[in-house]
Amino acid sequence: MSAVVIVGAQWGDEGKGKIVDLATEHADVVVRYAGGPNAGHTLVVGNDKLVVRLVPSGILQPHSVCLMGQGMVVDPAVLLTEIEALEQRGIKVQGRLFVSELAHVIMPYHVLIDGLRESGAAQKIGTTKKGIGPCYEDKVARRGIRLGDFRDLDRVRTLLAAAIDAWAPAMKAWSATLPSPDALLDDLAPLAKRLLPLITDTGALLDEAVRANKRVLLEGAQGTLLDIDHGTYPFVTSSSAVAGGACTGAGIGPSRVRRVIGITKAYATRVGEGPFPTELLDEAGTRLRDRGGEFGSVTGRPRRTGWIDLPALRYAARVNGVDGWALTKLDVLTGLDPVRVCVAYDTPSGRTADLPLTELDRCTPVFESLPGWTEPLEDVRTIDALPKNAAALVRLIEDKTGIGADIVSVGPRRDQTIVVRDIFR
Ligand code: IMP
Repeated sequence: MSAVVIVGAQWGDEGKGKIVDLATEHADVVVRYAGGPNAGHTLVVGNDKLVVRLVPSGILQPHSVCLMGQGMVVDPAVLLTEIEALEQRGIKVQGRLFVSELAHVIMPYHVLIDGLRESGAAQKIGTTKKGIGPCYEDKVARRGIRLGDFRDLDRVRTLLAAAIDAWAPAMKAWSATLPSPDALLDDLAPLAKRLLPLITDTGALLDEAVRANKRVLLEGAQGTLLDIDHGTYPFVTSSSAVAGGACTGAGIGPSRVRRVIGITKAYATRVGEGPFPTELLDEAGTRLRDRGGEFGSVTGRPRRTGWIDLPALRYAARVNGVDGWALTKLDVLTGLDPVRVCVAYDTPSGRTADLPLTELDRCTPVFESLPGWTEPLEDVRTIDALPKNAAALVRLIEDKTGIGADIVSVGPRRDQTIVVRDIFR
């Protein structure tokens, strides 16, 4: 049994792309299981930088087969643009990428509604405006349109008419209008025709791979604290971003998952609205943003930055069943002194080492300060070769969470990585 889940332990943007890319060197099948083009995984290969939003990061490894599971929401135009960009770089996609026939389609009206809401809402979520929320809403309301439906365009026309009807009152309130089903189909049918060869029962392909004892990597998107059930609700995304979501979103039974790797930065970031108790609004925060390149890969928005939150990581370890950490961007902390770490919270009912999820806005983080280091880390390849104070930070994270670091990333390039343990071991 060889399926490994890679999951974000914070608010997304933990550097999953690099870790998945590294892990796929040894993976036969890479599956994305949640979210849609709200994700943006930056892959760095040599001097080349590439952002993939829908296609699993494993696409860069010529031997891997990539699956997009039924838990995802897919914008056909975005997917086709991404495929073209990959092909232009000589990366073969045909025969290597398969998309679930059960994945829901992000329609142009979902994108429109997401934008209208965000521009007028009293309580903004700060979404990526890619239509994610409205598409999942249609899915749960049981009026969504799935990729497999496009095998029968008359069926899609009927489904579009029903969905447009359902959104009509909201559109009226926004003084906006939606195109007719025919107009939508005129645009969508040619896109769907190009995608149909990729659309299949990805769950069956995954099952075949698991039975054949292939190495399967389930690649999370967003992060634990953005999960619809386990995150800082309502400031969350609309999908199941945690490791459990890999089972429903890829179509694999929990008994088939062998290990869960949690990805965390050595500090914290958040994009969009919502509580972020360790946020830094001073020079140290700006420094983290600039040194860490903390600008959204999808929207370009500057990310909010702050110190690492160990109660939050312990929580992420619990809800995901994390077996090992991949600690990323340790190099970004070089030059900061002291380095601070949130180890507990003062809540209205006393101090706790747990994450007070439902009352974060009424709690104060308790920090421990560690001496910083000035040595660059980019050329370090073993834990023992880390500067003493950087190693102490890694140890503190391991000790306070009770989970070891399997990987420590010290730079954006593939080779700028300390591999402590093989994640497929
Ligand atoms: P949505 O997923 O576009 O609906 O956005 C909901 C919330 O999740 C917003 O706060 C977004 O900024 C955040 N979000 C969604 N995807 C990502 C991601 O890949 N990285 C970081 N934040 C994300």
